[in-house]
Amino acid sequence: MTSLILVLRILHIVFGVFWAGTIIFSTLILEPRLKRLGPGIQNPVMKALMPVMTPWMMLSSVIVLLTGVAMTLIMRWGTLNLLLATAWGWAMLVGFVTTLAAMVIDFGVMAPTGMQIEKLAKSFEGRAPTPDEARRLAGLNARIETLSRMDFVLILLTVGSMAAARYL
Ligand code: HEM
Repeated sequence: MTSLILVLRILHIVFGVFWAGTIIFSTLILEPRLKRLGPGIQNPVMKALMPVMTPWMMLSSVIVLLTGVAMTLIMRWGTLNLLLATAWGWAMLVGFVTTLAAMVIDFGVMAPTGMQIEKLAKSFEGRAPTPDEARRLAGLNARIETLSRMDFVLILLTVGSMAAARYL
């Protein structure tokens, strides 16, 4: 059992660091820098990154969620009915809910919005966008910005609850 927990823990932390780190890096550094460089650079860079980033982020989040739930069940098997009687249990519940919410935002809303942006940008390739297209593009980009801020807060809450859990 100890070696199983060890393997789960290593997978959990490695993929958790990758997923959370990517979100923190994108929100604090990549997106603001690209925005400042303008859509002529931002759009092709995001278009090149998304097909690689999205599947890796999806895989990482699923591994983090499954290993996290497995560790919770293994560590508290036999006293699961008392899970929410402990601060550790609440920390895990917070981590679980915030992780799920971040996954819904990442893959249920942000990824489809990114695809809409790509489709719209393709429709006016080689010419300037009409005022209506420019307005729609700005609206979609603003939605991505808001969602990625929400995602960032959720990931910070998850990392905070994970870091604090064993000291509560
Ligand atoms: C972005 C998502 C997540 C990240 C970055 C993350 C990160 C971490 C880290 C760094 C640790 C080591 C903490 C320590 O040893 O003190 C940890 C432990 C743990 N995590 Fe997560 N985690 C995430 C989501 C989840 C979820 C959804 C669950 C499921 C409820 C979960 C369950 C656990 C458990 C059971 C431990 C072991 C706690 C202990 O040893 O007391 N994690 N996590």
